[in-house]
Amino acid sequence: MTAQSPLVFNITRSTSLRPQAERDAILANPGFGKHFTDHMVSIDWTIEQGWYDAQVRPYGPLMLDPAASVLHYAQEIFEGLKAYRHADGSVWTFRPEANAARMQRSAHRLALPELPVDLFVESIKQLVSIDAAWVPSAPETSLYLRPFMIANESFLGVRSAQKAAYYVIASPAGAYFAKGVAPVSIWLSTDYARAAVGGTGAAKCGGNYAASLLPQQEAYENGCPQVLFLDPLEGKYLEELGGMNVFLVMKDGTVVTPELSGSILEGVTRASIIELARDRGHQVQERKITIDEWRDGVASGAVAEAFACGTAAVVTPIAALKGRDFIVGDESAPAGELTMSLRQELTDIQYGRLPDRHGWMTRLV
Ligand code: COI
Repeated sequence: MTAQSPLVFNITRSTSLRPQAERDAILANPGFGKHFTDHMVSIDWTIEQGWYDAQVRPYGPLMLDPAASVLHYAQEIFEGLKAYRHADGSVWTFRPEANAARMQRSAHRLALPELPVDLFVESIKQLVSIDAAWVPSAPETSLYLRPFMIANESFLGVRSAQKAAYYVIASPAGAYFAKGVAPVSIWLSTDYARAAVGGTGAAKCGGNYAASLLPQQEAYENGCPQVLFLDPLEGKYLEELGGMNVFLVMKDGTVVTPELSGSILEGVTRASIIELARDRGHQVQERKITIDEWRDGVASGAVAEAFACGTAAVVTPIAALKGRDFIVGDESAPAGELTMSLRQELTDIQYGRLPDRHGWMTRLV
């Protein structure tokens, strides 16, 4: 087999760049996932050719045949990572190789082609270089990057697609939750599971998020911005939130998080928090946690703090867990001390305010 030479990106600049005043207005109040930059990346794949035609091109609609398999069988995966502007104006991203590797694992589970790690990282660099003016600089803001892959073969037979495409789009981002980093209440879903054992729960695929939307809506109706799922077999053990991993901090400083059960997404933020907590000398346990342990632990004082984490919302303190007929914790409780200090340390590394002792940061611009 001959080694494939690296793909060269063909760059087509947009001829209708958003005016600076419009961009500045967006960057001053970006919200989350609402606005998109001027360009996008696309790379095509076929079973015969492998990856080809890498492009940076103007942001715009995709042309899809109505028979494209993604529209029928949801053969789709995605990633989420951020570009951060440092005080000197340079732009960096956090552990992109971890996202690239996870995308390969997701691709494997969804029978999609695996994008080489260096091509993933290069695609991010290409997009952020051309759209660097879209990386905001206000505190807690970033450029959220959304790589995704779809099967786009026009074929209704049920088998893995022989044609796919990878894209990256970018969206300036402020706080994920409306209230910023304030503590949130979360809703315990008892009627629905997020993912089955042996299913796609460990893959970052759109289908998992689709399955979370109805219970997520139930959460909103009960005043909670996120939903917590229990394990699909016994409905007893914590799994994860609709789009974030979950942690408890015990009174003795032990940090616990559900073990990777096969139906939990292996969050990059989750892994980083585990390392940062261990660096500080905390005992960190990845193990089964029952919902009763949380409930009883809050009542007895054994559970001191709870938080959720993910790329989009970073680390979010959990004030209370609500269900149909119970509430654990106090909805007006302040954020936990360790929660906020881990959040601070992580964001200090991401924004270049602390030395990158783990080698997590990659410079983009
Ligand atoms: C993330 O934190 O990146 C997520 O996966 C949440 C979401 C926006 C899908």
